[in-house]
Amino acid sequence: MERQDNKQIKIVGSGFYVPEKVLTNADLEKMVETSDEWITTRTGIKERRMASPEQATSDMTIEACRRALHNGNLEVEDIDLIIVGTSTPDTLFPSTACWVQKGLQADHIPAFDISAGCTGFLYGMILSRSLILNGGPRRILLAGSECLTKITNWKDRGTCVLFGDAAGAVILEKSEDDSGMLSHYWKADGKLGNLLFQPGGGSRNPATKETVDQDLHYLHMKGNEVFKHAVKRMGEAATVALKKAGLTPQNVDCLIPHQANIRIIKATGKRLNLPPEKVYSNIHRYGNVSVASIPISLHELKVGGQLQKGDIVVMVAFGAGFTWASVVYRW
Ligand code: ACO
Repeated sequence: MERQDNKQIKIVGSGFYVPEKVLTNADLEKMVETSDEWITTRTGIKERRMASPEQATSDMTIEACRRALHNGNLEVEDIDLIIVGTSTPDTLFPSTACWVQKGLQADHIPAFDISAGCTGFLYGMILSRSLILNGGPRRILLAGSECLTKITNWKDRGTCVLFGDAAGAVILEKSEDDSGMLSHYWKADGKLGNLLFQPGGGSRNPATKETVDQDLHYLHMKGNEVFKHAVKRMGEAATVALKKAGLTPQNVDCLIPHQANIRIIKATGKRLNLPPEKVYSNIHRYGNVSVASIPISLHELKVGGQLQKGDIVVMVAFGAGFTWASVVYRW
């Protein structure tokens, strides 16, 4: 187990952005053979947002970052590092974080991306903790942002009903009181990488007419395999992170699971023996927005007044890689 001490980092600002265009289950009924009833019962999703043709991941991220800065009463000049978690970068290089740095006019501060699928936001929090507590940047702008509709195969009913576009952001700094990140747990298993991946466009299958004809530039997923691993690993991650913080599920006031599927969310809550009212879900409104789902949930809970000082919040995610992680946080 990794060493953890009692020094903490905390969230001092948050915000999110979703595109205006709403894609409902009724819209999808006109595109593939599916039904509102199937999507609702199997996934919990009613609608999702869709970026416009001109809108890239960095455009959404810049707006989410501006809102997080405003929420934290901070200026761009107060930030020392930008990290963006994404699997749908504007370009393979430069990183989306560099496009965001340009958009925010945050001159010369370092900026880079994290590629850890839906777990990228929690990987980013864990990394930020080490950087901040070891004398690195004083304040980090951490975003999770995804334009999944741009890599969705609209003919594949097994995936196209699931995903949406969104960006969330938080600002992290050293905590001077007892609030903040208490413990974490993070893992990966690359042996299972091809259960959820974008096969084309990288150095394994560089983009050609053939790779496009074979739909290799789209997201490919073995949904029910992903489902089984997600339930098991999210339960494991939350349990271990709680133990590392010296806590048990009975201490938890709010569970924020990655919003992949309402059945995965409920199963994770059940594994921890939590009553449904302690398990946050907004998947009906946004679908699976991957790495953006936890920062959006955090911000909604915060502005909704649903988190009280001292509350124990557990964030847990699972995603492509496979990767999985959990963060225990005292509000
Ligand atoms: N509408 C109607 N029928 C459908 C649809 C659809 N949109 N999609 C699949 N079906 C059919 C299948 O063809 C299959 O039919 P068959 O029995 O005649 O062959 C039947 O429904 C059952 O298919 P399954 O894939 O077994 O359905 P399942 O209950 O597993 O639900 C789903 C599929 C929703 C994709 C589920 O497996 C899931 O949510 N998996 C996890 C996905 C996920 O969370 N991915 C991301 C995690 S990481 C990240 O967030 C990036």
